[in-house]
Amino acid sequence: MEADFKEPIEISANTYLVGKREGSPLERNVYLRVFKAGGKSVNMVIDPGPPTDFEVLSVKLAKVIEDPKNVQIVFLNHQDPDVSYNTVYFQKLNPNLVIVTTQDTWRVVKYFGLNDKNFRAVESFPNYRVMLSTGQRLIFVPTPFLHSKGACMVYDPETQILFSGDFFGGLSSESSGIYATDKDWDGIKAFHQIYMPSKEAIGLAINAIRKLEPPPLVIAAQHGSIIEGELVERFIIKMQTIEVGIDLIKDTKLNASLRDVLNEIISAVSRKIPKEKIDSALKHFTSGRAFPDLAVIRDGKVMEIKFDAVGVFTGIVKGLINNSDPDTRALIKAKAIKLLLDRDLPLIDLEYGDRVEVPELFEE
Ligand SMILES: [Fe+2]
Ligand SMILES: [Fe+2]
Repeated sequence: MEADFKEPIEISANTYLVGKREGSPLERNVYLRVFKAGGKSVNMVIDPGPPTDFEVLSVKLAKVIEDPKNVQIVFLNHQDPDVSYNTVYFQKLNPNLVIVTTQDTWRVVKYFGLNDKNFRAVESFPNYRVMLSTGQRLIFVPTPFLHSKGACMVYDPETQILFSGDFFGGLSSESSGIYATDKDWDGIKAFHQIYMPSKEAIGLAINAIRKLEPPPLVIAAQHGSIIEGELVERFIIKMQTIEVGIDLIKDTKLNASLRDVLNEIISAVSRKIPKEKIDSALKHFTSGRAFPDLAVIRDGKVMEIKFDAVGVFTGIVKGLINNSDPDTRALIKAKAIKLLLDRDLPLIDLEYGDRVEVPELFEE
């Protein structure tokens, strides 16, 4: 069933997706968690978003908690305006609002005009855990440098939802719905390649997720679709394999070498494959969308690979292969392997786009 994004969407008991959806590549998910027990209730908003979303957000909040002024806690993953600016409005509506975030985030986010007296540092809660007046618990999970020094996720052990901020966030496409499918992985990967600093920072955050008890059933990020069911484990495993940020930039030598190999392959097949088909294999990397292209393509040549050289290489070679007759296909594969070997480049598995790992057969 098509989701009605005009209404608050209850993703779990007393947990709602209340952000604005506009069909853009970078949607901003805002979540409302209503804690209820023994006649008490506490309303917490997670990552309240930017001012452009405030009206839609308040209408949706009013449908669940009567009035946006009834928001009592705002949790901030980090200080980006798309995450946190609306906190200013909630503070005006409710002067007793409590803002929970890390000290590193607070030090800068307060300059939006937030009041020091409203701040509770996650570091002030023993073991990064807190019990609310309703008896329910929250666990804070810092994710240093993903993508801010003070970034921090919040885990709700009752619903087993991990509110992960930008981590596991993804770019949306026309096919994206409330819940992620395997098709959403590419948007998640692209978002992490742009924003996340390194494989190492991702590894640290995944170790922290692995320690959560009970383990999360749902990952609710600030962008893209909500990850649940078996995709949680599948995407965690995939997340550990990707190279992002500085990992990709520091590979500039590899970028240039793979660019040269690609141009040699293109020139070798240029008389065997029609020009339009070569252009279509190259076009994939100049999307013209709001996000930076992975490669610069001009006059049927690869001028520059900006990042994810292995991904670009595999994508283009596969594009050429798909547009070829069987003889040319074999030639492209053989030529690619020969050129990579000649130049001492990593052998790239054209099926999966990973570098082929050489097994360690002997102990040192
Ligand atoms: Fe961010
Ligand atoms: Fe974000």
